[in-house]
Order: sequence, then structure tokens, then C-alpha cells
Amino acid sequence: MKPDSSQPPIQASTVIRNIGQLVTIAQQPIAGATGVLQVISDAAIAIHDGVIAWIGPNDHVEPVFYNDPESENDGISIVDAQGVVVTPGFVDSHTHLVFAGDRAEEFHLRRAGISYGELLAQGRGILTTVHATRSADTEILTEMAISRLNTMRHYGTTTVEAKTGYGLDTITEEACLRILNNLNALETDPTYEYSRVRVVPTFLGAHVVPPEYRERRSAYVDLIVEEMLPSFVGLAYFCDVFCEREAFTVEECRRILMRAKELGYSLKIHADQLSPSGGAKLAAELGATSADHLDYADNTDLDRLRDAGVVATLLPGCSYSLRSPYPSARRFIDRGLHVALATDFNPGTSFCENMQMMLSLAMSSMGMSIEEALQAITINGARALALHQIIGSIEIGKRCELAFWSIRDYHEIGYHFGVNLIQSVLIA
Ligand code: NIG
Ligand code: FE
Repeated sequence: MKPDSSQPPIQASTVIRNIGQLVTIAQQPIAGATGVLQVISDAAIAIHDGVIAWIGPNDHVEPVFYNDPESENDGISIVDAQGVVVTPGFVDSHTHLVFAGDRAEEFHLRRAGISYGELLAQGRGILTTVHATRSADTEILTEMAISRLNTMRHYGTTTVEAKTGYGLDTITEEACLRILNNLNALETDPTYEYSRVRVVPTFLGAHVVPPEYRERRSAYVDLIVEEMLPSFVGLAYFCDVFCEREAFTVEECRRILMRAKELGYSLKIHADQLSPSGGAKLAAELGATSADHLDYADNTDLDRLRDAGVVATLLPGCSYSLRSPYPSARRFIDRGLHVALATDFNPGTSFCENMQMMLSLAMSSMGMSIEEALQAITINGARALALHQIIGSIEIGKRCELAFWSIRDYHEIGYHFGVNLIQSVLIA
């Protein structure tokens, strides 16, 4: 590579050379890139202060890089990508990261024909996990969350949205939110082998009505609105609700979300997952950032979501685990919605940390192309978190969060399935 002395020098702490295919997923056309994913073959990128400073060809004229202003070209580390595919790190925009216990027994009971709804009505399901989470101490919950984040990172994820919702009392919900916030601060703590994955905390007090409020559900909604929401301002970025027959009505969800909005939270809704619950319509009405699941949303709902700019987050792990039909992603994409894919990692309906699995299911059973699926796990995941100006694509000025694949052509993604194709991630 020849330095181009006619260009002003660019400050960079790291230059990544020899990228076989840089799948930028850029939202603006970039020089030398082709196709909807804006792929650059034989590429290099330079990073400064965790931010992408330059993107270009590997072996043509390159700008002069410097780091230490005193001595030009000093202190720059060079990484050789050895010809592999590089994409943005994955953005998993819907997980239930913090919980104790497991629900393996219920998984197998469902194989024997008992439904998710029946188990919940029997006081199991989410309530099994609430019981285990309330009994667990903070240290254990933290360790389990870190271990799960490390697994997610191993499969290519660099940003994770994480919901509470297994505490359902003020003390446990707050403890879970503090755990999530602390995960972002842990990177300097040597006692934890911390993943450095970014965690975006969401308050999901309206997951189900807890047992002690069974006969007086409106008092639980009061507790959320009057006590939890005001005291969790600053601890959660989003407020989410489970709008479903088995959980909360549209009216209850509207009341909670309107209060949340007043207090400055952004909104998410578990909408139309098990029945046409009215959640999608509510998401459009309130201008939620995303509406998630949407298995039973009809075309009028989809048009409303699109017109209100709500991201549709599809969660194929639930269809897999509940053995319910996969929603057709085509229906959403053809109507002009932004579609994100996420794991919905949780102990009940999707016990899976792996975004590559979601991509495979979306390509095999939801009608997505490789290009659509890659956008769904990167830039559209970022949109579902309102972080798309900062992460989700490889563009100058964005945070440098990359997934290095063990392949040389991105068309192998989805084709070669059921194995981990990620070599490593870089969170600069
Ligand atoms: O997204 N639907 C509600 N919440 C989760 C399931 C949580 C659980 O079963 O523990 C979901 O599917
Ligand atoms: Fe969920």
C-alpha cells in the first residue's frame, strides 16, 4: 500500500488490513462499495478513539495515518484480517437477560402437548422464573448475566437490549435494573471477565401480574405507574409491556406506556404474539420505537406501524420453541417496514443466545434473503434501539464494533448453518 501524501494525514490508533469482504451495510453509498449491503472487496479500515476514521481499499493508495502527534506513524497497531468477511457486530434488540432458574421441564411438557398459555394459567411459565429470580442474590444474577453476554459475544453480538420482568416487585425490579446498568461499567473490574458488550436496559414491570396481586390487578398497574416508573427514571432507557390475553390489556398497557412516555422513557411493546391483542395498534398510536413478535398482526396493523415509523422486531426463536408458525418477514418488508431480528433470549420461549440461529431461521422459514437478514441483525436492530446513528453499520464516524467471520464470501451465511461462523468480535 502506497501512502498518498497529497491527502491530509488521518489520526488512527488501529488499522485493520486485508479484509476479504467488508460488508458495511452503510446507509449512504460509499466509494468502491457495491450492492444493497455496500460491500467492499479487499478493504481496510482505520479506527481512532473507538470510532471508524477511514474506510478504503487495502492495496491502493492509502492516506498517511498518524497517532502520536509528535512522531508520525508511531503507535498504530496493525491487524491482519487474513482475507475474511467482516460485518458490523450484531445488535440483539430484544432479550430477557437477567433471571434465575430454568424451565426445561416446561419445554418438554410443551412437546407433550401442553400449551404455553395453559402453563401460565397454572401459575407456571413466567411465574416459575419470577419465583426463582426473587430468591436469587444479586451476585449470582450478575454472574449469570455476564456468562450469557459472553456467549452472545462468542456468536457475534456486540450490543444487547435487556429487559427486567422477572422481579415484578419494586425491590427486585430495581435490583435487576442496577445489575444491567452495572454490566456497562464492569469493563475495568478485574474480578469479572467482562464481555464489553453494550447493554441497553429496559423496564418490563408489566410482564405478567405477580401472584400477590392476582385478585387486584389494577393495584399492580397503580404500583407500576405511581412507584416503579418514577423511581426507575435514569435506570432504564425503554419501558416495555406484554400486551396479551394472559398478561395486560390494551387499556392497562396504554396507561403504563403513557406515563412512561411522560417520564421520558422510550417505548417497546410485546405485541400480538399469542393472539391479535391490539398491541401493534397501540405501538403505532404511542409512537413506540419498536413493536415485537407481531405473529398475529394484520396488514392494517403493519401499515399503521410503517406510517408511525415503528420498527417491527421478529423473534423466530419463539416460533421454534413454541412450535408455532413463523411470521412471514416478506409481508413486513414488502409493505415497507424496517424489520429487525432478535433472539428474545429468555428461559421460556427462546432459550438461545445466538443471533446466527435467528438469521438461519429467518432465511429458511420467514422468506428473508441474506441481504435482508444481515440488515435485520445489524442496522435494523440498531434502529429498534434508536442507536442507528451510532452503531449497526460500518461508516465513518460510527463506533467500531465488528464481527470477523471465518468465511471469505458472505454468501456462505445461511447456507452453512448450525455452526458458529464467527471467529471473533472487535469492540474498539
Ligand atoms: O418474549 N412474551 C413474553 N415474554 C417472553 C417470554 C418470557 C418467558 O416465558 O419467560 C417472550 O416470549
Ligand atoms: Fe420477549
